Amino acid sequence: MNSIKKFYKNKKVLVTGATGFKGAWMCSWLIKLGAKVSGLGYNPNENKNLFYQLNLNKKVKFEIFDIRNFNKLENFVKKTKPSIIFHFAAQPLILRSYKDPYLTFTVNYLGSTNIMEIARKFKFIKSVVMVTTDKVYESSGKAKGFKESDLLGGIDPYSASKSSTELMIRAYRESFFNGKIKCGISSVRAGNVIGGGDWSKNRLIPDSIRSSIKNKTIILRNPNFNRPWQFVLEPLKGYLILAKKQYENPLRYSSAWNFGNKSKSITTVSQIVEYIINYWGSGKLKKLSKNKVYEQENLQLNSFKANKLLKWKPTYGIKQSVKVTTEWYYKVLKLKKKPSEVTNKQIENYMHENKWS
Ligand SMILES: NC(=O)c1ccc[n+]([C@@H]2O[C@H](COP(=O)([O-])OP(=O)(O)OC[C@H]3O[C@@H](n4cnc5c(N)ncnc54)[C@H](O)[C@@H]3O)[C@@H](O)[C@H]2O)c1
Repeated sequence: MNSIKKFYKNKKVLVTGATGFKGAWMCSWLIKLGAKVSGLGYNPNENKNLFYQLNLNKKVKFEIFDIRNFNKLENFVKKTKPSIIFHFAAQPLILRSYKDPYLTFTVNYLGSTNIMEIARKFKFIKSVVMVTTDKVYESSGKAKGFKESDLLGGIDPYSASKSSTELMIRAYRESFFNGKIKCGISSVRAGNVIGGGDWSKNRLIPDSIRSSIKNKTIILRNPNFNRPWQFVLEPLKGYLILAKKQYENPLRYSSAWNFGNKSKSITTVSQIVEYIINYWGSGKLKKLSKNKVYEQENLQLNSFKANKLLKWKPTYGIKQSVKVTTEWYYKVLKLKKKPSEVTNKQIENYMHENKWS
């Protein structure tokens, strides 16, 4: 059996933000690997939510509460006793962070601090992967590959909430864990993730699919912005490898990690939409010249460290990533296939490509 499969079989794993886009894919993958998954989320809206579409509410030990509430988090962790935590829960949208900066800072920063406190408190927790973002870096305005050691400094409220979370995680790691408490603590920075079942507002793929299904023109806020687009399973694969490695050897692997896309596949927003229209079979796009609020223009990650030390590398190029993503929506929305069937098949294919099956 593959070593990842062997490792996760019967492991108790907590996924925060399980009801979110990445969280739902992660829960599905962990279940496939034989893990005992618990999850928490805070969006009771069951309508068009991948977590519920995949019936994950029946497959994981699951509660809805605010991660800022330490007592609730502690009680849930006491009940479920995870040895591994993947922390995804966040307010992840830049535009919303301009409308709700207080919510963004408290959920992202305080929620993450609560996870660090929990890991400090319970010895059964052995490995914690804290998901931040590629937007934690100070922007130089030039297209370049950010390294993990580069200066942190997000300017918009969302990015700043994640940059400050990075500093907090580092302080906890250095002060309480490294060599003291035997638990791996890492932060992980990935770029714009795409994949089926994301229904968030103001995100390129869901917005494009919503327009395509209604035969409406797709409006692009920033047609020329580069984004390191990647298929959702690419960074999740990195998180699975990292959680295992730092579980087994916390001193060596506890750190900050970039998980970027395949080199030479940095693509503009308008190019992505052209691919979507091509795979969907119809559609129109309109380019708006300038966005009203600040968003970092050039975002690229240097993933040399993950590549060298974790033997992680992306599997799909940009075209394949957009293709499988568009296929997910096409099969679910047009061909009326079950979301769980399509999702599980895509995970199986991806595992097969990675020789994990
Ligand atoms: N999707 C991307 O392209 C992308 C890129 C970089 C980083 N990230 C990061 O990955 C993580 C997951 O993102 P996503 O795209 O799945 O987002 P999402 O909005 O789909 O999911 C967010 C999850 O967090 C939960 N949550 C929000 N507020 C909460 C609270 N107060 N208490 C408890 N749970 C709460 C939601 O219920 C949901 O389960 C986030 O930390 C995000 O910043 C995402």
